[in-house]
Amino acid sequence: MSDKRPGPLVIEGKLTDAERMKKESHYLRGSIVKDLKNGLTGGFTGDNVLLIRFHGMYQQDDRDIRVERTEQKLEPRHAMMLRCRLPGGIIGPKQWLEIDKFAKESTLYGSIRITNRQTFQLHGILKGNLKPAHQLLNKLGLDAQATANDVNRNVLCTSNPVQSGLHQQAYEWAKVISEHLLPRTRAYAEVWLDQEKVATTDEEPILSATYLPRKFKTTVVVPPQNDVDLHANDMNFVAISDKGNLIGFNLLVGGGLSIEHGNKKTYPRRASEFGYFSLEHTLSVAEAVVTTQRDWGNRTDRKNAKTKYTLERVGLDAFRAEVEKRAGIRFMPIRPYHFTFRGDRIGWVKGIDNYWYLTLFIENGRILDYPGRLLKTGMVEIAKIHQGEFRLTANQNLIVAGVAESQKAQIETLARKHRLIDDTVSNQRKNSMACVSFPTCPLAMAEAERFLPQFVTQVETLLHKHGIGDEHIVLRITGCPNGCGRALLAELGLVGKAVGRYNLYLGGNREGTRIPRIYRENIKEDEILKEIDYLVGRWAKERHEDEGFGDFILHAGIVRPVVNPAQDFWAE
Ligand code: HEM
Ligand code: SF4
Repeated sequence: MSDKRPGPLVIEGKLTDAERMKKESHYLRGSIVKDLKNGLTGGFTGDNVLLIRFHGMYQQDDRDIRVERTEQKLEPRHAMMLRCRLPGGIIGPKQWLEIDKFAKESTLYGSIRITNRQTFQLHGILKGNLKPAHQLLNKLGLDAQATANDVNRNVLCTSNPVQSGLHQQAYEWAKVISEHLLPRTRAYAEVWLDQEKVATTDEEPILSATYLPRKFKTTVVVPPQNDVDLHANDMNFVAISDKGNLIGFNLLVGGGLSIEHGNKKTYPRRASEFGYFSLEHTLSVAEAVVTTQRDWGNRTDRKNAKTKYTLERVGLDAFRAEVEKRAGIRFMPIRPYHFTFRGDRIGWVKGIDNYWYLTLFIENGRILDYPGRLLKTGMVEIAKIHQGEFRLTANQNLIVAGVAESQKAQIETLARKHRLIDDTVSNQRKNSMACVSFPTCPLAMAEAERFLPQFVTQVETLLHKHGIGDEHIVLRITGCPNGCGRALLAELGLVGKAVGRYNLYLGGNREGTRIPRIYRENIKEDEILKEIDYLVGRWAKERHEDEGFGDFILHAGIVRPVVNPAQDFWAE
């Protein structure tokens, strides 16, 4: 928290155009139905371009061919990205098979992308295929509601493969919280599922007719694993258990990573500890945090609208007291909790339920058939015989969960045959992550997903050169400062500045509880590698025993720690 005096609870002034759009949308309907019937364009028009985000879609175009299309006087090749709502990332093998078929037959890229928010995205759906996509999800018991825009998004849950009982309980809460905070409008059902209009008046008792001021993200975390990166999220429920049983949550509020290059009013922020409460209050606490942010969040400036800024403006005490008032509880002191890691344990582990769990490393979360690595086919072969479930992880990996001893060998054989298991993958690669960026993301400034694989190869070479080839640095690349690749919680983060150019951030830690600081600005790949060569050389020689790269960076004084980002993230 900053030490300045708290500001006003509500910001008055001219509302943003997004507020007008939400208000006029008639509870998220807009004129989407009309646009769906318009054969003259492959895209949506006017407000509908943003409105469809509430229904889980982004309008995109292939940026690799944008200039060519303009020269030919054609409109950009519009296609939609669709993001499923999948609390805790759990999906069944039968669901997987149907989604795989849709991706193959009805999308431009044919791939399924596991995102670092524990769901999957299908890229490249033409307008005419959107209704079939939503109807397929509905048939499978899934939907794409509220996975984008100003609502509570897909709720994350630690994908703990060992403590199955505790995971199950945490996961149930992730699902219930997600359902409870969903929009109540019937727009999704009417527009995409062709359901009848019912003669009731729409009401949004939690979100309001103008929804939230900005996107809102929630996690349920089971320590000691911080795979969900709670400090990147608005509202976090840290599971407190007793003898393997969930008994309550520590609540942490106000994390977020998005910034704008050079705009000192923006900053990343860690979530603040509010206190502990017992399980029965979970939904009222969730609702109280969301409605407080709904009423106090800044609706006059979208760059200042997230919970992290509300909290800094009104002060932690005022925000927490309001949540207590609305939830009708008093928070108890935070219960001890401790994070020790963020990565996934790749390979087999046996759960305490005696079933086996196989975590597959999926580079960039991209499930596609590559030459010699038929990942997508391999997943289909596994789905055909798997009796348990799949869990998508917040590190873009996938767990084949709940495998009986009798099926373990068969699943392993399939995974190896299709290179879903690859023993040559280094620790460095397992701990590297990128956002989508080019060619689909309209906001991309520099390559991320397509740049990562070969860049990691070069970092591996440097680690070997300095005699620490088995080591790893939590390395993340994000194509622009919006931060989807969570680079501002990495030990080494690259944030896209322009094509081929990045800002280099250093000094996060392995547990994901520290924000890194800028070290070099606007540099190219060869310069970045030169810096890494120098830094890894020093780390290899000078580090304390078991000292991670990010901790070493601080101890060696290479950058100063970011203590209170609202105050010192931009400090020289
Ligand atoms: C103002 C802030 C942000 C904006 C405008 C934004 C916008 C976008 C857009 C347009 C995409 C679609 C890219 C594509 O799939 O082609 C995307 C993807 C995604 N974003 Fe964001 N984003 C923001 C911040 C964040 C943050 C802070 C996180 C996480 C902490 C995040 C997580 C994701 C994830 C998980 C995806 C899916 C693809 C992936 O795994 O990289 N976003 N975002
Ligand atoms: S970080 Fe930027 S480039 Fe990457 S997916 Fe998010 S918005 Fe797109």
